[in-house]
Amino acid sequence: MASLYLVRGILMLTLVLLNIHILKSNCESITRDSEKAALLKLEQDWGKPAALNWSSITNTDHCDWSGVICTDGFVTGLSLAGRDLYKPIPKAICSFKNLFYIDLSKNQISGSFRTSIFNCSRLQHLDLSFNSLFGFLPANIHKLSPKLAYLNLASNSLSGSIPSAICQLHGLRFLHLDNNYFNESYPAELGNLSELRVLSLAYNPFAPGRMHPQFGNLSNIKYLWMSNMNIVGEIPDTMSQLSQLRLLDLSSNRLNGMIPSRVWRLRSLEMLYLVNNSLCGHISGPIEAMSLTEINVSNNLLTGRIPEDFENNFISGEVPTNLILHAPLQVLVLAGNMLSGLLPSRIWYMQYLKKIDLRKNNLSGEIPNIPLDTVDLSMAIDTIDLSENHLSGPIPASLIYLRPTLLNLSNNQLTGHIPPVFQINEFEQSFLSNPGLCSYNFGNYPMCSTQPGPEEQDKHLKRPIIIFLILGSTMLVFTGIFCFIKIRSRKKHEAPSPQWKLTTFQPISYNVEDILCGLTNNNLVGRGGSGKVYKICLGNNCKIAVKKIGNGLKKDGMLEKQFQAEIGTLGSIRHANIVKLLGFISTSESKLLIYEYMEHGSLYDWLHQRDKD
Ligand SMILES: *[C@@H]1O[C@H](CO)[C@@H](O)[C@H](O)[C@H]1NC(C)=O
Ligand SMILES: *[C@@H]1O[C@H](CO)[C@@H](O)[C@H](O)[C@H]1NC(C)=O
Ligand SMILES: *[C@@H]1O[C@H](CO)[C@@H](O)[C@H](O)[C@H]1NC(C)=O
Ligand SMILES: *[C@@H]1O[C@H](CO)[C@@H](O)[C@H](O)[C@H]1NC(C)=O
Ligand SMILES: *[C@@H]1O[C@H](CO)[C@@H](O)[C@H](O)[C@H]1NC(C)=O
Ligand SMILES: *[C@@H]1O[C@H](CO)[C@@H](O)[C@H](O)[C@H]1NC(C)=O
Ligand SMILES: *[C@@H]1O[C@H](CO)[C@@H](O)[C@H](O)[C@H]1NC(C)=O
Ligand SMILES: *[C@@H]1O[C@H](CO)[C@@H](O)[C@H](O)[C@H]1NC(C)=O
Ligand SMILES: *[C@@H]1O[C@H](CO)[C@@H](O)[C@H](O)[C@H]1NC(C)=O
Repeated sequence: MASLYLVRGILMLTLVLLNIHILKSNCESITRDSEKAALLKLEQDWGKPAALNWSSITNTDHCDWSGVICTDGFVTGLSLAGRDLYKPIPKAICSFKNLFYIDLSKNQISGSFRTSIFNCSRLQHLDLSFNSLFGFLPANIHKLSPKLAYLNLASNSLSGSIPSAICQLHGLRFLHLDNNYFNESYPAELGNLSELRVLSLAYNPFAPGRMHPQFGNLSNIKYLWMSNMNIVGEIPDTMSQLSQLRLLDLSSNRLNGMIPSRVWRLRSLEMLYLVNNSLCGHISGPIEAMSLTEINVSNNLLTGRIPEDFENNFISGEVPTNLILHAPLQVLVLAGNMLSGLLPSRIWYMQYLKKIDLRKNNLSGEIPNIPLDTVDLSMAIDTIDLSENHLSGPIPASLIYLRPTLLNLSNNQLTGHIPPVFQINEFEQSFLSNPGLCSYNFGNYPMCSTQPGPEEQDKHLKRPIIIFLILGSTMLVFTGIFCFIKIRSRKKHEAPSPQWKLTTFQPISYNVEDILCGLTNNNLVGRGGSGKVYKICLGNNCKIAVKKIGNGLKKDGMLEKQFQAEIGTLGSIRHANIVKLLGFISTSESKLLIYEYMEHGSLYDWLHQRDKD
């Protein structure tokens, strides 16, 4: 009896299981059929572009169709980059229950951002970059899948604000909104997205605004792209909390004030780009950013020396006896600043340095020599640009050890003869505008009156040169060709460094840097129709007020002339009842009027008070 029940039981169980299985596979095939139909619908809605040819192969398994990604027979991804899609995203795109990956980048998809995509409830990756989307992002964008980790809307034509609801997508790790026309604001709460690894807001015409200090809460951020987005004011100190940061790009904004010294201590920072701003002050070490491989801070108002400890801090481990510094730094670009002092000699010994560009600064003294006994065959610096400084003394022939493909020492005060090793075609443009230089029939350089002495013949150079020739003759040929092509094709694409011209009517103890460095919001004491007024202090002593007018005015010859005329009159007036105009600084973009600073109240108040007296 008992065994009969057991057999019946087993039989029934088998039947039930069988049923379930049939039901399930039935169900699966229904789902699979419906997914196939949905794909065909999608193709139809997109107007059957030639690059989607699914309907021509309907008899095959849709999981084999190009661009369709399946997992266990279900559609989980659509990888349709560069398929000439131009119609708006069809609603049918969310017909796939397990869809978590959509890549529609590099098409011409137009229209606005469609909320139908909210229905893809398992979406983790959405890439719509390089399309033609326009209009505003929906204010309820937080209704996108809560699982979304990757959102890329870069290189479209979206405008308006970035809605603050985007900050509720807490799972976001990658957010790319760069290269659009967002012309209003971006929310400070982006700082709440603590999972973010990459944030790119660059190249958007946002309304001018300060950088949100809340971005210091992006505790996992590694890449922060924020160039060309109209940021004004200072770099917030909270940036130095970003302990995972590898790349910081704040180039081409309107940043002023100092680079927070703690930025130089971000140990994971590899690339620092602060090009084209009005940052001032010194590069204030100690530089503990041990990972830095690229520093590009050109076209700012930095002053002071290249820090003495600059290279030392890049040494990891022990100082090797052959002087080569095992520092990761590869690119050092500080061109277009007002750095002064000497060029540290150890810069030549940095193992990985490939490019050093210190053009348009105020460096002085001699170019450090590389003594023969310190030469290492692994030393090589591809680009050495020290042009437009105040360097003096002779050109060290030993620079040839570095095998530069681009060497520029033009526009300095170098003297003596051009070393014969450099008197070859590649270097013909490398020493221009150094009135004290001469050559032995090379380019347009004047002839030296004396023959080179024995030491000038660079005899000591011959041995290593022979070694170079033997070891790297092919390489030299290649670099020669490369250099030739480079020199040929190099465009005259020079960033105009701001021409700060100080004109004074009375002696003042401030220099241009003191004044420019003081134009920070902390020093703002008033603003009016014609501009802003700043109080400038040296230590505790605040003696001058600077009125900045015409910010952003286009270059206008008439305006310039009127301004000059006005300055002429004001500057020549010396009357006890009138605040003295001490001088002015004029640039192509703005004019700075320098007045005596009056302790109490505005110039207006003060003038009127004096009138009553
Ligand atoms: C369909 O398009 C894909 C990608 O464009 C192509 O590789 C494939 O050969 C095409 N198949 C047919 C049957 O046209
Ligand atoms: C999204 O899904 C809801 C129900 O889940 C449905 O009512 C709505 O029509 C769907 N929207 C689109 C655009 O498919
Ligand atoms: C931003 O751009 C949109 C579309 O071009 C325009 O309608 C809007 O007025 C602009 N907003 C601002 C603040 O300029
Ligand atoms: C961001 O975080 C702050 C502080 O935790 C909170 O008050 C705010 O509501 C958050 N904002 C968003 C949009 O999530
Ligand atoms: C984010 O940063 C701001 C200012 O830096 C701070 O006041 C706030 O408490 C931070 N919020 C969170 C959630 O950490
Ligand atoms: C300087 O930095 C910018 C990024 O802002 C980069 O695009 C450019 O190539 C850099 N220039 C050099 C000479 O490395
Ligand atoms: C350039 O450097 C010299 C001396 O090194 C200094 O006297 C001069 O003031 C500096 N000029 C500027 C504009 O910084
Ligand atoms: C060096 O810079 C000067 C401008 O200072 C320029 O005229 C010259 O062509 C440059 N030479 C090379 C080799 O780049
Ligand atoms: C800096 O400005 C110059 C001149 O305006 C421009 O050519 C260059 O591309 C800018 N650099 C960056 C990194 O934006």
